[in-house]
Amino acid sequence: MKKILITGGAGFIGSHVVRRFVNNYPEYQIFNLDALTYAGNLENIKDIEKEPNYTFVKGDITDESFIETLFQNQQFDGVIHLAAESHVDRSIEDPLAFVKTNVIGTMNLLNAAKKQWLGNFDGKRFYHVSTDEVYGSLGAEGLFTETTAYDPNSPYSASKASSDHFVRAYGETYGLPYVITNCSNNYGPYHFPEKLIPLFINNIINNKPLPVYGDGNYTRDWLFVKDHAVAIDLVFHDGKNHETYNIGGFNEWKNIDLVTVLCQIMDQKLGRTTGESAQLITYVKDRPGHDLRYAIDASKINTQLGWKPSVTFEQGLEITIDWYLNNQDWLNNVTSGAYASYYEKQYS
Ligand code: NAD
Ligand code: DAU
Repeated sequence: MKKILITGGAGFIGSHVVRRFVNNYPEYQIFNLDALTYAGNLENIKDIEKEPNYTFVKGDITDESFIETLFQNQQFDGVIHLAAESHVDRSIEDPLAFVKTNVIGTMNLLNAAKKQWLGNFDGKRFYHVSTDEVYGSLGAEGLFTETTAYDPNSPYSASKASSDHFVRAYGETYGLPYVITNCSNNYGPYHFPEKLIPLFINNIINNKPLPVYGDGNYTRDWLFVKDHAVAIDLVFHDGKNHETYNIGGFNEWKNIDLVTVLCQIMDQKLGRTTGESAQLITYVKDRPGHDLRYAIDASKINTQLGWKPSVTFEQGLEITIDWYLNNQDWLNNVTSGAYASYYEKQYS
């Protein structure tokens, strides 16, 4: 039986990855390590918590001795590392928190894996989940490829870039068998409502302003989260060691166009008159260092591993909106407590 450590499995993307691995690989023992920060929520994986091949471990990847002991005790065969501080706006407020988790936390995992595996790397794999933001910002043309130079602009993307470099360095220096993926913006169920799509769905439901940063002409490439989980599964099993794969949705949207479509769908779902939700759109102060455009060239993973998104944006958005409308208890739970003071500070 293979033992796989998945970090950050109580978060947005991690919960979809954990669910997929627990359900699809009964022959694996899946360990979900998560510190349960504001972004981690055991509700996200409630449906699989009693499965015999699943174990939840509450712990912090910044705790070096805890991580070393966990590796010594469990002797993992593979690591899929998603735990991170993930929100750009929060990184502008508190960059050091991002260095601690995203850089030091990744280092602790790398050191523990190296210590356990050095001398026999057979069948071992360290999978580091990263972001397209490490490449910086595109102008109106072009796509990020696996050879695009790193050029991070936010404390978040700088911390992810740093962790990517360390993973690669451990591969070159110690021979650690690693893979890295750099993915574009995800959306879907269990997305914490500080990020654009779930924040705006929640605000539309509650008739609150929709704070569009700057002129709204910033562009992102959106991918349905379950398609990211499929890609992670493929790369974990079939990707080549010491390689990077870009993952994207072939699906670019200017923020203001996306928000307009979201408002139209929400009007229909909530029985509002056409244009009612769009009246909530409010242009607010721009994000400092705001990257203009991200867009991924996902042809490598497409041609080498046969991956492509399975749902269109229209389908994915419909599934997502329906999920939030049917899970308002989840929304209310995660937006109580500390969320209110975060929101007040960010948007007042
Ligand atoms: P998230 O913020 O929803 O979840 C992060 C999880 O990590 C949470 O469960 C949190 O409790 C846990 N965590 C945070 N600090 C920890 C620590 N010190 N120790 C242990 N656990 C800790 O993030 P997400 O959006 O699901 O992103 C997951 C990963 O994917 C991140 O590495 C992120 O950089 C990357 N990524 C995200 C996107 C996206 O669009 N969301 C796109 C590309 C890549
Ligand atoms: O590209 C991958 C990245 O996508 C991931 O690595 C990050 O973890 C993830 O958070 C996401 O980063 P973004 O900064 O692109 O996502 P966010 O949802 O915060 O913002 C998307 C766009 O919407 C961006 O141009 C900023 C804008 N925005 C965001 C918020 C929260 C607004 O206009 N208003 C808002 O209130």
